Amino acid sequence: MKVLVTGGAGYIGSHTTLTLLEAGHEVMVFDNLTNSSVESLRRVGELSGKKIPFYRGDLLDETAIDSVCAEGGIDAVIHFAGLKAVGESVANPLKYYRNNVAGTLNLLGSMERAGIRQLVFSSSATVYGASERVPLSEQTPLDATNPYGRTKEQIEVILSDLCHSDPQWAITALRYFNPAGAHSSGRIGEDPQGVPNNLVPFVAQVAVGRHEKVLIHGSDYPTPDGTGVRDYIHVMDLADGHLAALQHMQDRTGMFRWNLGTGFGSSVLEVIDAFSAAAGKRIAFDYGPRRPGDAAISYSDVSAAQLGLGWAAKRNLAQMCEDHWRWQKSNPTGYN
Ligand code: NAD
Ligand code: WQD
Repeated sequence: MKVLVTGGAGYIGSHTTLTLLEAGHEVMVFDNLTNSSVESLRRVGELSGKKIPFYRGDLLDETAIDSVCAEGGIDAVIHFAGLKAVGESVANPLKYYRNNVAGTLNLLGSMERAGIRQLVFSSSATVYGASERVPLSEQTPLDATNPYGRTKEQIEVILSDLCHSDPQWAITALRYFNPAGAHSSGRIGEDPQGVPNNLVPFVAQVAVGRHEKVLIHGSDYPTPDGTGVRDYIHVMDLADGHLAALQHMQDRTGMFRWNLGTGFGSSVLEVIDAFSAAAGKRIAFDYGPRRPGDAAISYSDVSAAQLGLGWAAKRNLAQMCEDHWRWQKSNPTGYN
């Protein structure tokens, strides 16, 4: 298949692009590089031995995405392009609604005009909000607690309405839990701009000496060790999930929603321990107060994706930390 990947220079997009190329698909990438660098794609090209046509453009520029979709021959789109910083979305909600929601509307319009009717969308477990009815299944009511999460919820509603209006569409929303890790080569990985908000990239930067210690947000949660529990999923397992979603849509239309998680929760202390073991060094930490808006426990019910998509995560926390560390230690300042 010929697949257009929006946001393909980013963290999950670059790993998925590699997986798609290795599975024999033809891939073209559209990205405005607002949170990424073309170096990721250069390395994906190197790893796959394949050329990746790259279009630098913004989804808010309708003519730019229109002309890429109109090139012809595109069978499906995987749509990663979006902003994802929860705190920034609270401070600047319009930026998030504009970029994520309006950007998606532009993409859908261009796809419609070009006759492309297959889409995989990057949703997030953040749509479940602070629900503590774990495991979280696809039937858990949606209740995002911040503007970023609400962009994902709103886009899912738009996609569902679109499928109802035109039975030719096949759309899959993948709700990722907590992505981490890197390709086993250590050549591509997560390259956060500024100080990372997420746990694993922060721990990795402590391990490589960019920060002194990890601040654990809360030690009084009702969890076995008092720290927050999350479902960390290896980015290469996520990439495989996108491949499975594309295959699943080949003989179906309509809207599908799947959780992509491992079904297994790890605490902040367990992540720090696993990373220390991978890096072969002690990672210093301190306890601080809870971070507002954080749930105590979040992990996925994986049964629907296993049954419906025929996909399950294969990699565990130890492997995730080893792969993340390999990337971090050989690229201490990311792609720069
Ligand atoms: P990322 O920031 O590394 O990748 C997103 C890419 O989209 C970047 O390369 C960025 O330059 C591009 N982009 C953003 N706005 C654009 C626009 N208007 N036009 C063109 N390109 C644009 O993020 P990621 O971690 O790879 O996440 C990919 C997707 O998955 C996002 O939609 C994110 O919300 C979603 N997601 C991420 C996580 C996570 O923790 N990483 C969890 C759940 C869902
Ligand atoms: C994990 C655990 C923290 C940092 C976020 C977004 C969500 C999704 C994934 C995109 C929690 C604790 C963290 C630190 C810590 N992204 N922590 N010290 O909050 O589950 O989800 O990323 O869709 O929308 O909200 O992930 O990695 O930030 O936190 O103690 O410096 O680590 O309290 O328990 P989270 P996270």
